[in-house]
Amino acid sequence: MLGRINHIAIAVPDIAAASKAYRETLGAAVSQPQALPEHGVTVVFVELPNSKVELLEPLGEASPIAAFLTRNSDGGMHHICYEVADILAARDQLVASGARVLGNGEPKIGAHGKPVLFLHPKDFFGTLIELEQV
Ligand code: CO
Repeated sequence: MLGRINHIAIAVPDIAAASKAYRETLGAAVSQPQALPEHGVTVVFVELPNSKVELLEPLGEASPIAAFLTRNSDGGMHHICYEVADILAARDQLVASGARVLGNGEPKIGAHGKPVLFLHPKDFFGTLIELEQV
């Protein structure tokens, strides 16, 4: 079912400071911040040879990462995104296996304009998993 890692998302309390650390201390290529109000985050992309890291800062009152940052005030790994070829087939197979899909179970259009779903972290060893159809 799983293809390559599309991205690893890290929630950060200060995206300017995090961008500076990735750019200057780690020597990575870091994009300009993009506000994604419909997702409740501001994001920068750290481009790596084999994948990318997304740094996420809360945006707005109902940010889906606000509670995570309350529990992890320094920031931390928020989710890992795996690519799938057919997100509805993947969902149906997962649900049949007893895994829980978050929300109403229907894919949403994610930050890259492609359909995504999230899987309950308690079903996958404490890691929030995003599936993205590519
Ligand atoms: Co993501």
